[in-house]
Amino acid sequence: MAHQTLAGPSIETLEAMLDVTYTWGYQETRAKLRDLYDKACRAQWISDDVLPWETDVDLDRPMGPEQLMPLFGSDIYNKLDKKEKENLNRETFSWTLSQFLHGEQGALLATAQIVDSVRDLDSKLYAATQVVDEARHVDVYNRYLHTKIGFSYPVNPHLKTLLDMILTDSRWDMKFLGMQIMVEGLALAAFGMIQKNTEEPLLRALTSYVIGDEARHVAFGVLSLRDYYREQPEAVKREREDFVYEAARLMRDRFLFQEVWEKTGLPTKECMKIAVDNPGQVMFRQLLFAKIVPAIKKMDLLSDRQRVRFQELGILQFENWVDTDLDQSPTGATSARLL
Ligand SMILES: [Fe+2]
Ligand SMILES: [Fe+2]
Repeated sequence: MAHQTLAGPSIETLEAMLDVTYTWGYQETRAKLRDLYDKACRAQWISDDVLPWETDVDLDRPMGPEQLMPLFGSDIYNKLDKKEKENLNRETFSWTLSQFLHGEQGALLATAQIVDSVRDLDSKLYAATQVVDEARHVDVYNRYLHTKIGFSYPVNPHLKTLLDMILTDSRWDMKFLGMQIMVEGLALAAFGMIQKNTEEPLLRALTSYVIGDEARHVAFGVLSLRDYYREQPEAVKREREDFVYEAARLMRDRFLFQEVWEKTGLPTKECMKIAVDNPGQVMFRQLLFAKIVPAIKKMDLLSDRQRVRFQELGILQFENWVDTDLDQSPTGATSARLL
């Protein structure tokens, strides 16, 4: 169990066990990961050079179609005047980007652990490039939130629970499964939707660059795990399936904007219920799993028992979907071909 202490107002320490491995042989054993490492080195970008930070972001403009607002169509929403709707839009926008920021920090920490614990040189080298990617992502979301939006939200408790699960587990494969497959698979889908729906030029550009990196990260997870579980005993697979299911539930529950309702003084329970049932939000939450479920299936972690649970979550229909949109970024991400 994680031992947590507060060493300062914003520092939190987790106690985590980790096997740290040297690889003295320096052999190149994973050609595809070496290839991904080369691509990652060539695809590095510098936010000051490539992003239009001078953009004046108009926070009164909706950041996407109104139907995607979590309360859209409800009595509560219909009673709000124009100013209140604009305010709510700003709050949900800040909340969404704040959770991305916190997720990026989790990815930074988890991937640094992967550098330590993976057992081959090619994986260590590739993971090191991902650490740099995640540092850049933390930086750009932090900068956007603090210079363009002006305020942020703390980490959502469901997201925090999931990040803690990943960071305190001592097994290397759980880190890949939790971070590269689940969290980053979901992030890739969420970023794709943002990129499609927002007209704000800075956020559009930022999201495109981040997507290019995240596509490689998901490819890293799939390449690292895809043959691993096939050879594992049933008990190991069942445990991983339970972990995936728990992670999927936590990720679904994090999208109900609880902290926004609490802050704006709207009836929290009622608003969460509306967000659960809102058709736009239902579709949004389901699509987030569109890339995760096929990846889980490829890794042989979709037993009949898991299918039933995925059916209950409303995400089983994605099992035969194929990733086709990983090439959309301007940073040369080509990981679709590696999958
Ligand atoms: Fe990231
Ligand atoms: Fe990532």
